[in-house]
Amino acid sequence: MQDESAAKAALLSVYPEADEQLKRYVDILADRGIEWGLLGPREGDKLWGRHVANSLALVDVIPEGVNVADVGSGAGLPGVPLAIVRPDLDLYLLEPMQRRAEFLELAVEELDLGARVRVLRVRAEDYSPGPDDPETFDVVTCRAVAPLGRLLGWTASLFFPDGELVALKGQSAEAEIEKAAKVLRSHRARAEVLELAGPGGVEGTRAIRVRSF
Ligand SMILES: C[S@@+](CC[C@H](N)C(=O)[O-])C[C@H]1O[C@@H](n2cnc3c(N)ncnc32)[C@H](O)[C@@H]1O
Repeated sequence: MQDESAAKAALLSVYPEADEQLKRYVDILADRGIEWGLLGPREGDKLWGRHVANSLALVDVIPEGVNVADVGSGAGLPGVPLAIVRPDLDLYLLEPMQRRAEFLELAVEELDLGARVRVLRVRAEDYSPGPDDPETFDVVTCRAVAPLGRLLGWTASLFFPDGELVALKGQSAEAEIEKAAKVLRSHRARAEVLELAGPGGVEGTRAIRVRSF
């Protein structure tokens, strides 16, 4: 368990240029995120140490200047913190639930991220690109959405054949890969576990990366 104020100080020391926007986003999570029921009331003291820290653990995994679909973005995790500290990325936040999609629209507007972050109210498996949208994404991120096998079924068409899926998973990573062996084979895909350091020495996490071969 991270100490919130220590985690906040550590994260902001790594991203001083994003200080104001990260603080504003955490304020939005702490008030409307909890009020609107997107985060449980007990999450209020884990916003920096768990939610933002987990999201930012992905920063070094995502290549420069790519487009990213954050599937099942919920309150914007990990997509919004990534968009804030990585101005080189174009982000699509895919979220089917109306209330959550409305929250995301509001956060994107208040954080002034609209030039490179789009909210799409859609299930991953129903994505169909508009005239300005990519057919497929370089990277698909997700956190706490579904077990790997199901996730792959929903997202394969979003990143195959040249992109990758990076799913934040914590301790269950190996077991999920094992369970999804058949689905991975049927998609001609391979999965690996990534050990992710936490920025500024905050607690790290783990992810599964899937690519086709
Ligand atoms: C437990 S929440 C996690 C939200 C956020 N990623 C986080 O870490 O806090 C799971 C989210 O996945 C969304 N979701 C469920 N099925 C989905 C699908 N088929 N495609 C895209 N999103 C989906 C839900 O609406 C919900 O917002």
